[in-house]
Amino acid sequence: MDSLNSRRAALNLICKVTDQKIMINSINADSSSELLNCDELEKRAAMRLTLDYLRNFGPSSTLIKLYVKKTPPKGVLNILQLGVVELCVNKRAAYGVVNDAVNLTHELNGGSAFSGLVNAVLRKVAKDGSERWSKLRPSSLPAWIARPIKKQHGKTIQKAIEKAHSVIPPIDLTLKKSGPSLLPEGKLMPNGSLRVRGGAVSSYTGYNEGNWWVQDAAASMPVQLLGDISNKKILDICAAPGGKTMQLADGGACVTALDVSESKMNRVRQNLKRVGLKADLIVSDALKWHSKKKFDVVLLDAPCSATGTIRRHPDLPFVKTEKNLADLINIQKRLLDCAVNHLKPGGELIYCTCSLLFSEGEDQIEEFLLNNPNMFASKINLESFGLPKEWESLHSSLRIRPDYWKEFGAIDGFFVSKLIKNNSVKI
Ligand SMILES: C[S@@+](CC[C@H](N)C(=O)[O-])C[C@H]1O[C@@H](n2cnc3c(N)ncnc32)[C@H](O)[C@@H]1O
Repeated sequence: MDSLNSRRAALNLICKVTDQKIMINSINADSSSELLNCDELEKRAAMRLTLDYLRNFGPSSTLIKLYVKKTPPKGVLNILQLGVVELCVNKRAAYGVVNDAVNLTHELNGGSAFSGLVNAVLRKVAKDGSERWSKLRPSSLPAWIARPIKKQHGKTIQKAIEKAHSVIPPIDLTLKKSGPSLLPEGKLMPNGSLRVRGGAVSSYTGYNEGNWWVQDAAASMPVQLLGDISNKKILDICAAPGGKTMQLADGGACVTALDVSESKMNRVRQNLKRVGLKADLIVSDALKWHSKKKFDVVLLDAPCSATGTIRRHPDLPFVKTEKNLADLINIQKRLLDCAVNHLKPGGELIYCTCSLLFSEGEDQIEEFLLNNPNMFASKINLESFGLPKEWESLHSSLRIRPDYWKEFGAIDGFFVSKLIKNNSVKI
């Protein structure tokens, strides 16, 4: 593997995220011009380096300021920050990091004038940067995320969440119920997820046998909170890529999975095939979809800011804005209003989002309950699911924060509310 190639590609990807505001997972690794000259290993290394750079943007900017008097041009600064992260976080050998950084500086337009600076700064960082690094604060969240979190939980928890975002997350697997025998090594979490670390997912034991699928422990909880679902008719609105669809089908439910995106629904189809499970798949806008059939359960995993997944997607704070949030809150409200129409009397509605923000969770449920007097919040007995009581939020909902489960390597942020329809109430 040519590390110069992957470092060059990482710098190009960084610009794509920070300047063009493009999320990494929307970049096609096979056709992206940033990755054209990379082999598979170099592409993976470039993606990893980009995420490392973004995750550590705050402290790496601070550290550079301790070594340079005048801020260099952006291209040079990016090279320095990437070098700092490789030296202080990834603990890469100084020789390769400094050499490649100098070569990449020469490649910049007018960059040769800064090659001496890059060489000198990174050599100094290699010598004493790690000690300084350990005293730096993690990256701060942008104001549109930090402000509401501070209001919801206070400054200490806001800082704890920012700290949790600075750590590379582990990978969680949801295990198929029907007796998986071959499993990779990992730690079994209190909710039954298997936590593993590193490597290509398709190389883990049991992948080809379809014994498990990748799903953060937090994302598996909405379905777990339903308890026994065998033979229940369940509508999974906003289903792709299908993590919850697979859980529902594995639990023995008759699942109708609906998503607006045809291409994402193809992923659901492939995922179901790999794990040997079945569901009826419908590609449609949930806001326009009508059905005479009523369901025992409707699961609405609504599109959201995804702020609960920043530890996995450190590019998100660089790309998403408050404007995106306002649009999402509006769609969530409309989807909730549609979802309730598909429920049988006595049926259960699960509303969930992978957001840290009350505006996409507790506040939505508060307003929905006010407007729907035939819907009631259902009490979730968290302890019976191996979860601490403190995770309970308003209207008996479940509020999972990334600073929870620190002892296991933390968890994604998530909100889950379970509501019951009681049609005997006159409205
Ligand atoms: C948070 S993801 C769902 C994740 C999924 N439930 C899982 O567990 O894998 C949100 C999904 O909502 C879909 N979506 C957004 N707006 C929609 C709409 N109006 N109707 C149906 N699906 C929609 C998106 O295509 C996306 O796949």
